[in-house]
Amino acid sequence: MPDTFLSGRTALVTGSTSGIGLAIATALAAAGARVAINGLGDEAQVDAARRQVHDAGGGDVRHFDADLRDPDAIAAMMDKVANWSAPDILVNNAGIQHAVPIAEMPVGKWDDILAINLSAAFHTMRAALPAMAAKGYGRVVNVASVHGLVASANKAPYVASKFGIVGLSKVAALEYASAGSRDSGGVTVNCICPGWVETPLIEPQIEARRDGGTREDGVRSLLGEKQPSLRMSLPEDIAAMAVWLCRREAHNITGASFPIDGGWTAQ
Ligand SMILES: NC(=O)c1ccc[n+]([C@@H]2O[C@H](COP(=O)([O-])OP(=O)(O)OC[C@H]3O[C@@H](n4cnc5c(N)ncnc54)[C@H](O)[C@@H]3O)[C@@H](O)[C@H]2O)c1
Repeated sequence: MPDTFLSGRTALVTGSTSGIGLAIATALAAAGARVAINGLGDEAQVDAARRQVHDAGGGDVRHFDADLRDPDAIAAMMDKVANWSAPDILVNNAGIQHAVPIAEMPVGKWDDILAINLSAAFHTMRAALPAMAAKGYGRVVNVASVHGLVASANKAPYVASKFGIVGLSKVAALEYASAGSRDSGGVTVNCICPGWVETPLIEPQIEARRDGGTREDGVRSLLGEKQPSLRMSLPEDIAAMAVWLCRREAHNITGASFPIDGGWTAQ
């Protein structure tokens, strides 16, 4: 029997038309949650994501459109989601990457990466946290990165955005630490910090490392540099942690950042 401990709860997962966000939305639905998905994609991709999350179980699934670069679009999305069903669980997952040295970084890329990877989480948390506090239960799970804990060259806006979301999460955790009770589950705000996860986001970086060889050569070169396990995580591995953080017994885990990085940040 699946453990549907989230039945009656509503989750909003940003960037859930692909990769880690889709896996988290699917796992939350399998645990019984009603899920609001968000993310870019053509109609077929959005439909496929909605169907996958729906088929995982749970209740209703809806896609809420918003380009997360636009604060007004985020505010409109948060109003629509609240009118549908106020989120008990907010997963800020949407993110983009552009890996070049600072001097070559287009200014527009800096602006977009900071807007999607960091500012969007401020806008969604600002809208969702008060209702969570009023209910005495709420979970914010921010998908940061090992790059919220350590830096790598050629990723200035990405690293800045991920360090930023780690800091933002700690502030929100402190502000809401005393909301709710041990029985209601409280309101917690945490980050998950993955190393390499097998999703479309990292394909350009694998491609850049192939050096005329196979995709596997590219993967080996990428992981050999920093991830001692030499294994990529699956999106489902990250999702399992996100779901666990939603449990009542995780009520005292807040303001934390959890590496899932095969030893990357242990070095
Ligand atoms: N894949 C990895 O190795 C890895 C490692 C560490 C952290 N992360 C983080 O995990 C998160 C998810 O990444 P992924 O690997 O699943 O990537 P992905 O490219 O598969 O998915 C990104 C999602 O964000 C959405 N998105 C992008 N721009 C958007 C916008 N302007 N408005 C709304 N949605 C937008 C996309 O539509 C998609 O649903 C990101 O925050 C990323 O930084 C990924």
